[in-house]
Amino acid sequence: MSTKPVPVSTKPVVPSRETAISRRGLFMKLGILFNGLAAAVIAVPIVGFLLSAITRGRGNGYLSWVELGKIADFPEGETRLATFRNPYVMPTDGTTADTACWVRRIAGEQFQVFAINCAHLGCPVRWFPQSGLFMCPCHGGAYYRDGSRASGPPERGLFQYPYKVENGVIAIQAGELPTPGAAIAALTGEKPSCA
Ligand code: FES
Repeated sequence: MSTKPVPVSTKPVVPSRETAISRRGLFMKLGILFNGLAAAVIAVPIVGFLLSAITRGRGNGYLSWVELGKIADFPEGETRLATFRNPYVMPTDGTTADTACWVRRIAGEQFQVFAINCAHLGCPVRWFPQSGLFMCPCHGGAYYRDGSRASGPPERGLFQYPYKVENGVIAIQAGELPTPGAAIAALTGEKPSCA
């Protein structure tokens, strides 16, 4: 029994006009969707970064006062280390938010509270009462007892925290580490301390 070959059409299959339009519309919609998703992925962190400048200023901890202890714990004429937890913290900061400062009690309620970080590149400075100097272990920066620069690479004295004494307790405004042109000065309209 012989089988007849089925004739094969050589004409290209052309989709109907309706099919072509609906396929093009589908691809266009998919393209718009993916472009929108890509734009959102890129935009979210950028917008978050831009808004952080606003939301940061409203944070509860920003520029809040942190108690360092009773002034009786800081004898007159001495400089002592005090520790505190930075109130301007993120939940993920952990123990990195625990920091320290040097408290110099000049007399009565007159104090100077120095940031522990060197004004050069931020290494923690140590107070040496024997020599009356703050010394930085990193590059040999030195500061006098009043925080002013003595020698070495730092171009200025130690940064200072604003402080107040109430009911025999000293507190500092510790929301942000003071730096040249710190936001503290910008917000309060004051010249940065030690600038
Ligand atoms: Fe202190 Fe460089 S970090 S001298």
